[in-house]
Amino acid sequence: MTHSSGDNGLPKRLAGSGPFERSQALFERARRVVPGVTQSMMKRPEHFAPGRFPIYLSGGRGALVRCADGFDYIDYVSGLGTNSLGHQHPALLAAVRSLLETGFNHSLPHELELTAAEKLSDLLRNAEMVRFFKTGADATSAAVRLARAITAKDHVVAVGYNGWHDHFMFDTPGVPKALAALSERRPLFVPSDEAALLERVNDGGAEIAAVVLAVPYNRVLSREFLLDLRAVCSQRGVLLIFDEIVTGFRIALAGVQDYYGVEADLACYSKALAAGMPLSAVTGPRKYLEVMERLQVSTTFGGELLSLAVCVAALEVYRSTDYVSHLATLGRCLREGVNRVATETGSPLRIIGYDAIPFFSFDPDRSRHEALMAPFQAEMAARGVILRRDVNFLSGAHTLAQVDFTVTATADSLRALGQAASH
Ligand SMILES: Cc1ncc(COP(=O)(O)O)c(C=O)c1O
Repeated sequence: MTHSSGDNGLPKRLAGSGPFERSQALFERARRVVPGVTQSMMKRPEHFAPGRFPIYLSGGRGALVRCADGFDYIDYVSGLGTNSLGHQHPALLAAVRSLLETGFNHSLPHELELTAAEKLSDLLRNAEMVRFFKTGADATSAAVRLARAITAKDHVVAVGYNGWHDHFMFDTPGVPKALAALSERRPLFVPSDEAALLERVNDGGAEIAAVVLAVPYNRVLSREFLLDLRAVCSQRGVLLIFDEIVTGFRIALAGVQDYYGVEADLACYSKALAAGMPLSAVTGPRKYLEVMERLQVSTTFGGELLSLAVCVAALEVYRSTDYVSHLATLGRCLREGVNRVATETGSPLRIIGYDAIPFFSFDPDRSRHEALMAPFQAEMAARGVILRRDVNFLSGAHTLAQVDFTVTATADSLRALGQAASH
């Protein structure tokens, strides 16, 4: 679309079967000093193809990244969905440069907080007011606090992954057992889960403060279901919170809210919000957001300026270009191409879900899928493409040539795997 990755954007130095010596050396260093090796669980080597996949990256341009051993890849991991415009987009670099001489986090508020909030409010459906935070979990946690305060109810129904904080991860070590009574997680992986969720909200509405919904990525929900959920939440005085951290600025600007034309009471954004800089936001109508004023919801870096400046620049790119349709078009081409070559080679691999966030699936059963996906990830990496195990991310910097390259790499990888890529 607007920004090419330079040259033809195709990987030049391919890994083949490696070696990943420098990655491995860094990994050994990390094991001594970083618990869990890295800060984001989903960046850990076990989520890719250990031994046959780079562990460390050193830089990138557009949608092309280079690993610590100097091999190039078309990157569909996209910084776990943050790098919506690829690396080194000129408008984002200019935004960073504009602050180099004046500082990044001042002692009192700065005008950029307003500029970013106004721009978001203009651009997004149902965003009269905006509060900024740093991470996705900050935003979803603030939205839960807000919903509990507004409704004077405690219980939270969470759908999908909404962050690591206690009220979402109530069943993991280190979280007080008592908290489990205040939250529950509901699946939406198959259509029959939908009726169960509607029934739960209807029956438990007297105690439920909010439904926090991150849509599943392995299938496209129907508008009818979301309207039913919207209706039952309204009837039962339950706030409907859309967790748009993956879907926002991807499947549509305001994510699910725009894609389906269904409004949430509160919405949470992060990842693509500031195109790779750490920023998140809670948005919604004034009547709800202004309640935040009397809550203890605050963070030192919430008004940090580099992220806000990059956010403003990214929003302008999203608004003034074909960004959203570019993602959808490339996603459709990728889906059609990959599914065609998979069919031709007799592989069960399919891309499913929303086009802008292609979901790779060998099998609905997670462990059977992973057993086939890991060797496929290794073969793709050897051919210059890095992929996540399930949902992947297109960006404004990806090109049709890169998608074509990926389809060819898929065909070659599936052929190389032969029977190993089938059931
Ligand atoms: C849908 C969704 N919500 C919330 C989060 C949490 O965001 P963060 O990791 O920035 O705290 C994530 C992270 O991947 C996510 O995918």
